[in-house]
Amino acid sequence: MGRVALVTGGSRGIGEAISKKLQAEGYTVAATYAGNDEAAAKFTEATGIKTYKWNVADYDSSKAGIEQVEADLGPIDVVVANAGITRDAPFHKMTPQQWNEVVDTNLTGVFNTVHPVWPGMRERKFGRVIVISSINGQKGQFAQVNYAATKSGDLGIVKSLAQEGARAGITANAVCPGYIGTEMVMAVPEKVRESIIGQIPAGRLGEPEEIARCVAFLASDDAGFINGSTISANGGQFFV
Ligand SMILES: NC(=O)c1ccc[n+]([C@@H]2O[C@H](COP(=O)([O-])OP(=O)(O)OC[C@H]3O[C@@H](n4cnc5c(N)ncnc54)[C@H](OP(=O)(O)O)[C@@H]3O)[C@@H](O)[C@H]2O)c1
Repeated sequence: MGRVALVTGGSRGIGEAISKKLQAEGYTVAATYAGNDEAAAKFTEATGIKTYKWNVADYDSSKAGIEQVEADLGPIDVVVANAGITRDAPFHKMTPQQWNEVVDTNLTGVFNTVHPVWPGMRERKFGRVIVISSINGQKGQFAQVNYAATKSGDLGIVKSLAQEGARAGITANAVCPGYIGTEMVMAVPEKVRESIIGQIPAGRLGEPEEIARCVAFLASDDAGFINGSTISANGGQFFV
């Protein structure tokens, strides 16, 4: 049997493409989601990939969910912390609720996802941690103080985990997508979207599959010496 991969937010958008790519590469995949049962059922019907519902912002639910995945599929070798949300507002209008929801999901959610699988990876002397950050965590973004702070924080998590896990055969890396044509981006007004595309040298949005291929590489044995790094996949929009 192949390695087991857990993809949070793996039923839609970028996560869906990651789940499918890892399945195609021979992994046994578990995909999680927050509440959209219909999308998750459709996804499972189309792919055969098992889905699990829990809120990544809640530690106890994440831990219990991960225990269930491991009971069903075996120890998790690859964890992709992909689930994320936006609650955009200019800073002077941003509410504490908007701040907290984004921090709880995008930053604490990564802790809640990786922490329960970390001891097993250390014991088995193998693990791949891949966090989906964002171009806006690298460069900041108007009306995204909350989102940019969490995505930037995710890079700090990865760089620190890389140092802690290296001797135990665990790598931790991030992918920073630019603007990808998922529901998250298609939900912004068309005028804003057009102006975003105007800022991308490639002249187009990215495809979820382009991010999925980065993840599959980082998960592979070929990427064993890549640790604490960030792959920027943004069509040339921003260089670090
Ligand atoms: N799209 C982009 O252009 C872009 C660019 C840079 C970075 N990113 C990052 O890439 C990741 C995926 O984005 P996307 O555009 O694919 O998002 P999406 O289409 O909105 O899908 C989000 C997925 O995450 C799940 N999710 C959201 N909140 C959750 C929670 N609290 N607990 C568990 N699952 C949760 C959703 O579950 P439900 O289906 O139940 O809602 C869904 O499966 C995010 O971290 C995002 O910040 C996206």
